Amino acid sequence: MKKKYIIAIDGPAGAGKSSIAKMVAKKLGFVYIDTGAMYRAVTWKVLNSGIGFNNKNKISEMTKKTSIELKYTPEKLKVYVDGTDVTESIRSQEVTLKTNIISSIQEVRNVLREKQRQLGKTGGVVMEGRDIGTYVFPAAEFKFYLDAKPRERALRRWNELKAKGRNVDLKEITLAIYRRDYCDRHRGISPLKKAPGAIVIDSTNMTQKEVAEKILKTVGMQA
Ligand code: DC
Repeated sequence: MKKKYIIAIDGPAGAGKSSIAKMVAKKLGFVYIDTGAMYRAVTWKVLNSGIGFNNKNKISEMTKKTSIELKYTPEKLKVYVDGTDVTESIRSQEVTLKTNIISSIQEVRNVLREKQRQLGKTGGVVMEGRDIGTYVFPAAEFKFYLDAKPRERALRRWNELKAKGRNVDLKEITLAIYRRDYCDRHRGISPLKKAPGAIVIDSTNMTQKEVAEKILKTVGMQA
């Protein structure tokens, strides 16, 4: 029987973590957990609740009382906040720009980390984010740090948006990537960094399939 281990994948925005984590989870029959979606879900709720983004106490209290569900359909991951489907709205530009405020609040991180540990405790999960190998599951059987040059990450995002019919400026996207990297790496709590023992994969010149194959090979599975 296949062992139900934990695979942690961390890395900066646009490194391809979500797509690759999904491919790996599918191949192994594991559950895919997108922890960024949980920070986005709290951000969405704050935006819709009228609480000020500087009111850390209220945001922390609200987070404790919020139900966040990740539901898996064969096509996509659906995200619900207190029963409302927020799958699309948590990907808005507004939410993307504000999540770094929410993800810098210690109490919010504590609450979400506990939820993430609950979701992963039985194993058989591929969990991706910024602090999975460092803080959430430091004893995960497999830890990966997925990276790519900022210019390449910006180009991927630009192509993704273009394919959706959005007319966006590559320069603006590149700047946003640098800004998000800076916020993720320099926040005081749980900053983005390679976990001890994590395998670094630079995907700048690799396809998603190649990266997924590398991960699967490492965990002892033929892709
Ligand atoms: O991966 P993403 O872009 O959906 O992440 C959204 C935000 O949440 C981003 O600002 C980084 C933050 N995040 C975090 O602080 N810790 C995680 N484990 C996952 C995401």
